Amino acid sequence: MHTFANKFLIFFSLIFCFYACTEPTPNKEAPQASIFDITKQKISDSAMVVSAHPLATQAGIEILQKGGNAIDAMVAVHFALAVAYPRAGNIGGGGFMVYRDKDGSVNTLDFREKAPTNAHRDMYLDSLGKIVDSLSLTGHLASGVPGSVEGMYAAHQQYGKLAWELLVQPAIDLANEGIKVTEREAVAYNEHMRLFKQFNTHKNAFVKEQPWKKGDLLIQKDLANVLLRIRDKGRAGFYEGETADLIVREMQKTQGIISHEDLKNYNAVWRAPIQFEYKGYKMISMPPPSSGGICLAELFNMVEGQPMEAWGFQSAQSIHLFTEAARRAYADRTEHLGDLDFYPVPVQQLTSQAYADMRMQDYVDSIATPSDSISHGNPYPKESEQTTHYCVVDAEGNAISVTTTINSNFGSKVIVEQGGFFMNNEMDDFSAKPGVPNQFGLLGNEANAIAPHKRMLSSMTPTIVEKDGQFFMAVGSPGGSKIITTVFQVITNVIDFKLPLKDAVHLPRFHFQWLPDLLYHEEGAFSDELLEELKALGHTPQSRAPIGQVEAVLRLPNGQLEGVGDIRGDDDAKGF
Ligand code: GLY
Repeated sequence: MHTFANKFLIFFSLIFCFYACTEPTPNKEAPQASIFDITKQKISDSAMVVSAHPLATQAGIEILQKGGNAIDAMVAVHFALAVAYPRAGNIGGGGFMVYRDKDGSVNTLDFREKAPTNAHRDMYLDSLGKIVDSLSLTGHLASGVPGSVEGMYAAHQQYGKLAWELLVQPAIDLANEGIKVTEREAVAYNEHMRLFKQFNTHKNAFVKEQPWKKGDLLIQKDLANVLLRIRDKGRAGFYEGETADLIVREMQKTQGIISHEDLKNYNAVWRAPIQFEYKGYKMISMPPPSSGGICLAELFNMVEGQPMEAWGFQSAQSIHLFTEAARRAYADRTEHLGDLDFYPVPVQQLTSQAYADMRMQDYVDSIATPSDSISHGNPYPKESEQTTHYCVVDAEGNAISVTTTINSNFGSKVIVEQGGFFMNNEMDDFSAKPGVPNQFGLLGNEANAIAPHKRMLSSMTPTIVEKDGQFFMAVGSPGGSKIITTVFQVITNVIDFKLPLKDAVHLPRFHFQWLPDLLYHEEGAFSDELLEELKALGHTPQSRAPIGQVEAVLRLPNGQLEGVGDIRGDDDAKGF
């Protein structure tokens, strides 16, 4: 085996040991350490759920066992995540669903947040045209109109099998009865306590006198009441009546602009997926307002034809090629991608092999191209943090891949008074000003400028892969700008580098996004020799915190399903 790979495996064993030691795994000598049964890898015969929290995974499994399909389980998982994983699971945010049914037909649902009616292009600039610090990130003005409840409702109306009430109930029970917080959740609540207090003077479930610790009970009565209304009234239980009143009242405390009309008029949109072929596999991913599907297509088209497999997993050559492809794809993202309903995104051109070939004409295999000498391409004809992912595959073979978010950890940090849920800070995903990066260092131009009712550009990349006309894999991740490269790496790890799914998800990752011109890698991911090789090629490696938090399901050659949850979180896979 390649020497680098050996080192990665040693690193992998160390981080796995670290997580195993800090995770609540069953341990007779230390019963306190066990809160949940977290399973990182599961092989099952017919159905699988993988999510960022074991209680959400369990909610999905129980719905499947009651005869629900993948969409039913999705609804249960989504609402359970809103209770058990409030940093990203949500009803105050939005997301995307990629769906493939047992017969092979595909669809996507866009339930991304929308800019409120009173939003305008310069809403985050001061009188001198400068960005006002944090205005798009924290507080009431940072929120777009939430889409999650409408998304769940619309998906269920279209494809659901069991009664809606049954699917919302597990989340209500979790909120009422309380959940024991994991070590990671306790740390996250404590780290954000100052902001929780700053933006919420009312009584809420998250602010308490003593620091949170593992095993503390989080009871969310206000949230349970909102979920009850959603259970009983469907979308109207959120977008109208008492919940809408609570949201608008919360907004009016300071500068928030979400109105009753904005809530009532929110709509989710069914969109044709981005589909493309790679080495005999068919990729099905999310179109705009996500940049995920288009950038993924660009990346795969740019690397296809190169001997990645021979170069090996995380060899200097394969990292170099990947980086050069990402440099070009992210430059294109900056210029060309935004909400299709507002901007003529050249989807066909950007996802074509001819365009990828043209973009890679100046690729040199022996030296990095400095990002300041790369710009976006011209796809027109001459005339012309925190987020979370879950996957479900049901016993019939229907599959969903959903990424959902309130953007940063705990979104805008605003908890709706008497509603008990966090509002998103998705407005930061717009380009507040050309040339000024957002929290992920992403730039944007006209295509992603703010406009009323427009959806902000996303990097969420829920993806399903098909082989020989059959479901092969479902995958996705949180991570802002790093989502696309994370999904790309997990898929290439399986297809090109032939890694078992567990290694493909758990092994260290890297990321590159054009600007800043830095090749990020997880701590310990690259050996000293590899770092030297990459520097010699002209790259600037920089170590950083974990990249992505993947959930994935793979169909094995014998027809069984393998589910893997990432070791970078409390992620859990269950199946039967
Ligand atoms: N909020 C992160 C994303 O949508 O890409």
